Amino acid sequence: EKGGYDHFMMKEMTEQPKAMVDTLAGRLNTDGIRLDDINLDAETMKNINRIHIVACGTAYHAGMVGKFYFEKFARIAVETEAASEYRYKDPILDKKTLLIVVSQSGETADTLAAIRLAKEKGARVLAVTNVVGSSIAREADDVLYTNAGPEIAVASTKAYLTQVGCMLVLAMHLGQLNGEIISEEMKRLGHALLNTPELVQKAMESKEAVKTFAYQHFNINDLFFIGRGLDFYTCLEGSLKLKEISYIHSEAYAAGELKHGPIALIDDGTIVVAVCTQEKVFEKMLSNIKEVKARGAFVLAIVQEAHKGIASEVDEVFVIPNMDDDITPIPTVVYLQLLAYYLAVARGCDVDKPKNLAKSVTVE
Ligand code: F6R
Repeated sequence: EKGGYDHFMMKEMTEQPKAMVDTLAGRLNTDGIRLDDINLDAETMKNINRIHIVACGTAYHAGMVGKFYFEKFARIAVETEAASEYRYKDPILDKKTLLIVVSQSGETADTLAAIRLAKEKGARVLAVTNVVGSSIAREADDVLYTNAGPEIAVASTKAYLTQVGCMLVLAMHLGQLNGEIISEEMKRLGHALLNTPELVQKAMESKEAVKTFAYQHFNINDLFFIGRGLDFYTCLEGSLKLKEISYIHSEAYAAGELKHGPIALIDDGTIVVAVCTQEKVFEKMLSNIKEVKARGAFVLAIVQEAHKGIASEVDEVFVIPNMDDDITPIPTVVYLQLLAYYLAVARGCDVDKPKNLAKSVTVE
């Protein structure tokens, strides 16, 4: 049932290129986005003035990427919040709000509670979920399925990747409806998205390099992830994945926040994974890398091909092909999934069934 792999997690990571194809199928055309499965039309969107994205764990991280995309491409104000926080607040929520929930299982108790709260206040609810007929799918007004196929491993991988894909597709759709996205941009993103299955495949082919790195460093107690913009969300996801399956303490920081506190924790040999795929902030990342290097950190950088020269500044580099900066979270997270996986395997952890965790959190 594991298809010849040692763990469901590896099987599911390997399935990611196909999952991405299935997520995009029928939704992405040469001239734009078509989402036949949902009923959000231009008329409805005229009455929407804000979006709330609510989810838990890994899905919450996909929601953060979503906020970035919605604001950039549809120019709509977005708040992203953990469902367990949202439901116990008094969020500014009315019939002009679109609530987008993200959930692999479609059964997460806090996320479901957020839907009920929003519906009480008259908001419209769109669910991005993987499980057809799940509670969340049934209670939402619209459902966009991730089409990732069944995910068994507790650590979410292909679901996350497809959630991010759905976020971009949705942002393009909304930008198209409200006229905020120009056709050039639409073409650029469409083209970039079509390339993602191949980019994910390439990332998976780097698994031996990631494995070698993991087996050299499995004895660590802490690991830091730093990044800016989209890379920061990838860091949050990589850090969560690492904690849950390898039990290594890790932190993810927006790199600019380092000097506001956490840099105090960087010592001789502390591993810092610096995700630097965003051209706009590349130089800023370089400065942050120099700061942690000056304190003795061992730095692993992830960069696009164009910046592979960073090798002279750091201890180790994983190079991804040059691509559109807006889609880098999709292949980059694969490296961090692999890193968590191999560190966990090297430490003898039960990768598919980490201690204290359940696949679906149906009680709060
Ligand atoms: C992490 C993980 C969890 C889930 C979270 C939400 O790998 O799997 O953090 O992402 O429990 O679950 P869903 O997406 O089913 O609502």
